[in-house]
Amino acid sequence: MSEVELLQGLSGEEIAEIEAEITHLPDRESAAIDALMIVQKHRGWVSDTSLQAIARLLGMSADALDSIATFYNLIFRQPVGRHVVMVCDSVSCYVMGADGLGKAIQEHLGIAFGETTDDDRFTLLPIVCLGACDKAPTMMIDDELIENVAAERLGEIFGRFE
Ligand code: FES
Repeated sequence: MSEVELLQGLSGEEIAEIEAEITHLPDRESAAIDALMIVQKHRGWVSDTSLQAIARLLGMSADALDSIATFYNLIFRQPVGRHVVMVCDSVSCYVMGADGLGKAIQEHLGIAFGETTDDDRFTLLPIVCLGACDKAPTMMIDDELIENVAAERLGEIFGRFE
C-alpha cells in the first residue's frame, strides 16, 4: 500500500493522534485498540479501508487487526446511527428482566437488535456486562451508562437523545 493509499483510509489528524498514542507504548501493535477507537471517534465506525490503513500504520496484518476489532464489541465495523444503544444481556441483567426490557426497547424504537432506525437516530446492539450489575438492568447510550432501566422510562430516556 502506498502512502497515498494509506491516507485514503486515514486523515492526517487521525495518523497524528495514533502516532501520539504509540509513543506511550512498547510497540506499534499495542496501539491497535486505541487506533481503532481514534478512527471511530472521527468517523463513527471503522470501514475496511480504514482498518487496512491502520494495520499498515501499525505494521500488522489486516486480518490480525480485524480479529481484535471483532472481539472488542465497542468497535463498530458497520455504519451506526447518531446514537448507539447497547443493552446488557449478561446474567445479572438477565435475572433482573433484561430479556423483557430488550423486547420493550425493540418495540419502542421499531427495530431489532443489530438494526438502525430509519432516521439514523439509534442503532441497537446487545452487549456483555457493563460492570454495574448491582444496578441491573443496565444499558449504555453512547458514553452514558443508564442503570435500573425500566420499560416505563424508555420514552424519557430516548427523548434525551436527538
Ligand atoms: S450483568 Fe448487566 S451490568 Fe453486569
